[in-house]
Amino acid sequence: MLTQTLPLRHVSEFAADIRESLTKSGQRELPSKYLYDEVGSALFETICVLPEYGLTRADARLLEKHAREIVRRLPSPVQVAELGSGSGKKTRWILEALSRRQKTFYYPIEISPSALAACEKELGQIDLVSVVGHEQPYLEGLRTVAEGRLHGNNLLVLFLGSTIGNFDRGAGEEFLRSVRAILHEGDALLLGTDLEKDIHQQLLAYDDPAGVTAAFNLNLLARINRELRGDFDLKCFRHEARWNAVERRIEMHLRSTCRQHVEIRDAGLRVTLDEDESIWTESSHKYRMGEAAEMGSRTGFRCEGLWVDEEWAFSQNLLIAE
Ligand code: TRP
Repeated sequence: MLTQTLPLRHVSEFAADIRESLTKSGQRELPSKYLYDEVGSALFETICVLPEYGLTRADARLLEKHAREIVRRLPSPVQVAELGSGSGKKTRWILEALSRRQKTFYYPIEISPSALAACEKELGQIDLVSVVGHEQPYLEGLRTVAEGRLHGNNLLVLFLGSTIGNFDRGAGEEFLRSVRAILHEGDALLLGTDLEKDIHQQLLAYDDPAGVTAAFNLNLLARINRELRGDFDLKCFRHEARWNAVERRIEMHLRSTCRQHVEIRDAGLRVTLDEDESIWTESSHKYRMGEAAEMGSRTGFRCEGLWVDEEWAFSQNLLIAE
């Protein structure tokens, strides 16, 4: 095997998820969480340095510039949990600022083992920071961390990169409510949200001319071929990014360029795709200024700080559990 694959106990879950989403009536889908295998995580790291994808740099710039102020507004002492840490690069600013005032415990929660390993390596070397990774889904991981918190400590939950935008708007708010239910009064949530901007600029961020984003999206089919013995012919699919003005989100699709039959043996599945039929893989919702604070106030948080990048419309929102 060239790439890391899922432990056996997860294979049947992967197969079941693929079966369900691909055979839904109406629009076919594939769950976006499966984009992040070892290849996908590496491609996503590359997306983050593309000139067209300003999101990650804006997120990191805000953390670098305002880390001290953010930390000043946090309860003390505080332990840090991060939902979907990825490689953890931009988290360094917060951890360094925190470790100036206390020994800091950091718990990245991440379903991609390769991203988690990179994160542990990247951030485990900071003085006075102890890193313990949790390879679990977000809420499950957060519950584990919250149950193990040291007496008298508050939690700071990081949910960066506008990952909340990958939920439908209603589900995103429901997710915040679930996070709040795990937290205690006074705990903090630092929430990054990508803001609405020029449509052309937004589309380019999800369809770069070098084709890295296309490769990232197509890798989902390649992964199914590798891990579930599928026979998707990647040459017969085209990456597509669309702006949905009603839902205010970018939608990522894989469009079949011809009528074709696909078999996924380990999912016991055969499907026929029509010419031009698409498989929807991901949505990325964009927000208005103040929208994160409003979502927060409806889900049990008050907004304690708002920082907006000057180059790329992106906001960092510090929410405190009430
Ligand atoms: N969370 C990222 C975002 O919505 C993920 C992402 C970036 C993505 N580019 C993509 C997902 C292309 C699917 C396809 O911005």
